[in-house]
Amino acid sequence: MKFQEIKNNIYYCGLNDCDRRIFDELIPLEHGTSYNSYLVKGSEKTAIIDTMYPPKTTEYLKRFAENQIGKVDYIIANHGEQDHSGSIPALLEKYPNAIVLTNSKCAENIKNMLHVPAEKIREVADGEEVSLGDKTLKFIFAPGVHWPDTMFTYIKEDNVICTCDFLGAHYTFSDVFAVESKELEKSAKRYYAEIMMPFRMMCKRYTQMIKDMNVDMILPSHGPVYKNPSFILDLYADWTSDTPKNLVVLPYVSMYNSTMEMIDRLAEKLNAEGIETFKFDIVDDDLGDLAMALVDAATIVMGTSMVLAGPHPMAVNVAYLASVLRPKAKFASLIGSYGWGGKLFDIIVNLLAPLKLDLIEPIQIKGKPTEEDFKKVDEMAKTILEKHKSIGLV
Ligand code: FEO
Repeated sequence: MKFQEIKNNIYYCGLNDCDRRIFDELIPLEHGTSYNSYLVKGSEKTAIIDTMYPPKTTEYLKRFAENQIGKVDYIIANHGEQDHSGSIPALLEKYPNAIVLTNSKCAENIKNMLHVPAEKIREVADGEEVSLGDKTLKFIFAPGVHWPDTMFTYIKEDNVICTCDFLGAHYTFSDVFAVESKELEKSAKRYYAEIMMPFRMMCKRYTQMIKDMNVDMILPSHGPVYKNPSFILDLYADWTSDTPKNLVVLPYVSMYNSTMEMIDRLAEKLNAEGIETFKFDIVDDDLGDLAMALVDAATIVMGTSMVLAGPHPMAVNVAYLASVLRPKAKFASLIGSYGWGGKLFDIIVNLLAPLKLDLIEPIQIKGKPTEEDFKKVDEMAKTILEKHKSIGLV
């Protein structure tokens, strides 16, 4: 299959992975993903920007055999993670005169993780430019979105920027250009939530930087190419803003429905006050949906049954995930039910501590909730309403 031309001798040479169902062995993928690789043919030199996920190397090389691109001078590694750098050794075998251009952190990573020989790598500096003849590649270091080794490659004459994982989406396509849709927006948000949200402040900074560059196109390393950069940049500006939305996220695990009944009651009371809620069944629901809700939530209330004198292990797992995703939420609380005793909340409170949330008095009950217990839940709803008012959400 021919490489699709994106603009003036810049081609898409990546691949879809429609069958991939989970990324990082953690979060389900709804649409598979793509591993994007770009071929840039200058009047004198040719470069490949980012390569391929190792299990796809054979298929990737087959595409190069079909396209007969001639010599390759440079392989640009924007980031060392193997879904983009994994096929560098194979490409170096196919194009033995090519050298890898990358920053020092990524150089270290590809030497360690892929055994790329040091003599095949030339380190570049932040802002350095490399000429391909009628095209110039400029390297812009972007540590933190999402690894310390991440950099962008800007193709000056064409005013397009390859942003590596930043601004990507786990999405597949037959035509590389983005079709702006709710489905794509959702995939991009799921991707942001899982991969970029822990680095929100850096994302905010680079979103503004790319806005200011006024580029013609954004070429990320997963998902489609944006001919209209403001589609994805405006979404990132919203997701990375400091102000949460009037939303309470309610992840819960409930063994005999007691905890669930209290979560249901809380959701009902909050909704009656005009506060949006997102109930999340920790056992059955998709963690990606929870991550997306955490992008916007002002408050997190976790519900858990007690198991062996402590919180349910699946609630602990979600609390840990929330703490590492670092959402912008401001408030938190807990609700739970126990049978014979123990400490229901301590582990979860400790796990959430790095988020520095304002903790609303938790509710712990014995057995099935009584009318008195439900009144406490109603009080919690009122407190959450006041908290949201205090930051101007209501
Ligand atoms: Fe898509 Fe950080 O790799």
